[in-house]
Amino acid sequence: MDYDQTGLLAHIREQFRISWHGTHGANHWARVLHHGKHIAAQTGADLLVVELFAFLHDSCREDEYRDPEHGARGGGICAQPERQVFHLTGDRLDTLCFAIRDHSGGDVSTDPTIQTCWDADRLDLWRVGIVPTAPFISDIALDRVDHAYDLSMKTRQLAR
Ligand SMILES: [Fe+2]
Repeated sequence: MDYDQTGLLAHIREQFRISWHGTHGANHWARVLHHGKHIAAQTGADLLVVELFAFLHDSCREDEYRDPEHGARGGGICAQPERQVFHLTGDRLDTLCFAIRDHSGGDVSTDPTIQTCWDADRLDLWRVGIVPTAPFISDIALDRVDHAYDLSMKTRQLAR
């Protein structure tokens, strides 16, 4: 990927206000990225947007449990200095910002990149005891539900 991943993650960690190892922290982002890459291989989603979504979508959370504005705050990151480290412009930046801003409302999208981002995030709902189901995830993501369960549960056990 053509951006400073280390710099971006360092910046995110510096300003992250909840637990780095918590429900909405780095381990969750790694699983979102894992699912996103695999789904993108079938949907043709923009891989850079999918990766940046994984790292950024929960990065502005201020509460592990109830924080309905975290998507809007995260979407605002696209206008902040952080974007200097990921060099995204135009439609790709708009797609990333939209995916982040509206990721937690249960919407679905006909845009393959946006839906890939949302599918990847929702597949990891297993970690909080929620079963990812249609119509909130695509048919491609539905095929990964069992694998997502294994991944979410394994990581949860490691965290104990
Ligand atoms: Fe998330």
